Amino acid sequence: MKIGIVGGTGREGRGLGVRWAKAGHDVFIGSRQAEKGIAKAAEFSEEFGVALRGGDNVAACDHAELIVVTVPYSAHRPTFESIRDAVDDKVIVDITVPVKPPKVRSVNLPEGQAAALEARALLHEGARLVAGLHHISSEHLSDPAHAFDCDVLVCGDDKEARATFISVVSDLGLRGVDAGVLKNAIALESLTPVLLHINRRYKSVGSGIRITGILETE
Ligand SMILES: NC(=O)c1ccc[n+]([C@@H]2O[C@H](COP(=O)([O-])OP(=O)(O)OC[C@H]3O[C@@H](n4cnc5c(N)ncnc54)[C@H](OP(=O)(O)O)[C@@H]3O)[C@@H](O)[C@H]2O)c1
Repeated sequence: MKIGIVGGTGREGRGLGVRWAKAGHDVFIGSRQAEKGIAKAAEFSEEFGVALRGGDNVAACDHAELIVVTVPYSAHRPTFESIRDAVDDKVIVDITVPVKPPKVRSVNLPEGQAAALEARALLHEGARLVAGLHHISSEHLSDPAHAFDCDVLVCGDDKEARATFISVVSDLGLRGVDAGVLKNAIALESLTPVLLHINRRYKSVGSGIRITGILETE
């Protein structure tokens, strides 16, 4: 699949881009500056032996069938505004956790209750928005030897869009779990500060969550 990563020059973008490229996807690393996107794509490609393309964020959206937005919450609104007209009817994934540094271990409910709900309000009516990957550490994503034992909870109002993203999540070496409507992003985003607290309390790197008791995998 053609995947565009908006803000793909950062920590999550690096790990996601490389893992998806290794799984055979055609990945485009987006940036606010085209030259930075091109340079980072070349750097990641050389480091991990993959072939990533790069450019600006709108080019990443134009390239993609599936768009993933990986920017800090402080950049969330301007980023969604800048790509709003480039999203069309593609599946767009928001992985933002609306933490308020330096208090990253404490739940911060933004004005719109969840970053993903704020993103929906910024996109055109009917945008196929899903949210997920809030609990997956960039350190683990960027370590090709790391085998995940946690799940990715995926929410969104479009069932097909959720299923599309869940199938791509499996190519990261993770199990995607359908977590219902986009409003449930309030719960998913809020879990990350809890995991960050657990990391510090138990000296873990990238603690995750695993859903038990699932009987059907389809
Ligand atoms: N890091 C993790 O382990 C982790 C885990 C789960 C979820 N998340 C979520 O994933 C998202 C990305 O995290 P990250 O650690 O990958 O972020 P990051 O490395 O700090 O930043 C990602 C990219 O966002 C762009 N950016 C940074 N500041 C910006 C600004 N003020 N305005 C516009 N763009 C800006 C930059 O791209 P350009 O300069 O190239 O435009 C940067 O390379 C966050 O919302 C975070 O909550 C992170």
